[in-house]
Amino acid sequence: MSAERNALTSSPFSPDSPRRLLITGGAGFIGSNLVYHWLGAYPQDFVLVLDALTYAGNRQTLQPLESNPNFRFVQGDICDRALVDRLLREENITAVAHLAAESHVDRSILGPGAFVQTNVVGTFTLLEAFRQYWLEAEKPESFRFLHVSTDEVYGSLAPTDPAFTETTPYAPNSPYSASKAGSDHLARAYFHTYGLPTLITNCSNNYGPFHFPEKLIPLMCINILLGKKLPVYGDGQNVRDWLYVEDHCRGLAQVLRQGAPGETYNIGGNNEVKNIDLVTLLCEILEDLAPSLPVHPATDLITFVPDRPGHDRRYAIDAGKIRRELGWSPQVTVAEGLRKTAQWYLDHQSWWRPLLSPEYQEYYNKLYKLS
Ligand code: NAD
Ligand code: TYD
Repeated sequence: MSAERNALTSSPFSPDSPRRLLITGGAGFIGSNLVYHWLGAYPQDFVLVLDALTYAGNRQTLQPLESNPNFRFVQGDICDRALVDRLLREENITAVAHLAAESHVDRSILGPGAFVQTNVVGTFTLLEAFRQYWLEAEKPESFRFLHVSTDEVYGSLAPTDPAFTETTPYAPNSPYSASKAGSDHLARAYFHTYGLPTLITNCSNNYGPFHFPEKLIPLMCINILLGKKLPVYGDGQNVRDWLYVEDHCRGLAQVLRQGAPGETYNIGGNNEVKNIDLVTLLCEILEDLAPSLPVHPATDLITFVPDRPGHDRRYAIDAGKIRRELGWSPQVTVAEGLRKTAQWYLDHQSWWRPLLSPEYQEYYNKLYKLS
């Protein structure tokens, strides 16, 4: 990298407020939570959302922001280079938080093509467009590109293995994690080759409001409320490290504002839970919050189903680097976060009921063979 570009990447992020941020995938689960977090924390900043509104994107989630002059929504594909070029210039964007992705492992097993297209080609398209725009910018020193990724790129841990650090070798096992690994490598390469100020975060499993029903926690909450079976893959002993989405968004904002370009930060909840224990806990929480459930006890709904092919046994994150260097740590315990989330699904049935479309039901029944 040239000394000149090197100097640019060590300058602080957007010293001039207000900042102008592009959030890709902002109508999805984490993206929408990040939009609310950012505009709540920095109401003078401008946020542009670019989202294709795939099955996982939901315009309704952002509806309360429609009248906010510091917010704009554009429906479009991150693979559309001309559109991305135009939006960067039209809105004088100075930072990108890139969350748009195909994000569900089970869907990647059924159809990996869309994952390669959006996660690899889409990320490449954004990086190229942003690089060209950055090269032409008057104040490129304050620009940032945050690539939001997953701990799944590191593969699977045995029960006693130490948690993933930023130097754990990549070993993705699913088409989803392989496509995210590919996009991480591109984001890294754009820093090392061109000096583009990219940052990468690798985060553990999130949960919280606006999570699409196909993922473990919303699926279980909704099925408990509807009295439907709770499909637990394999022996239920797989371990995930759960992080409340608001904690993740705070971490993303911190990395974007204070992280060093070219660096990777692992983000995790330090909350390792076995799937079967998590599902049992959700049954107990909802028994408590919604005493008139259709099936009681809700644990009677637990159904062990054939395992996911290539199912990673355990993920665990060592978040020491972001704690030491940026002062971030999770604030919501898993007991607290699960209760808040279960209450949210109980209170927001008008958000999730329309998502259980005939098309989704067909996918769901095919996947779990539960019809
Ligand atoms: P999500 O599936 O809920 O949302 C993805 C969003 O991207 C949707 O709104 C969708 O419409 C949009 N999108 C998909 N393809 C697009 C395209 N080609 N162009 C424009 N928009 C497109 O996903 P999520 O759970 O919010 O995850 C967001 C990001 O965070 C992803 O990059 C994911 O890999 C990463 N991540 C997720 C988790 C997790 O637990 N959910 C954990 C770590 C990292
Ligand atoms: P998921 O929410 O799909 O996240 P990821 O696969 O990205 O970790 O799944 C979390 C865990 O729960 C994972 O070990 C698979 C398991 N799981 C089930 O047992 N049943 C289900 O119906 C789903 C969706 C997941």
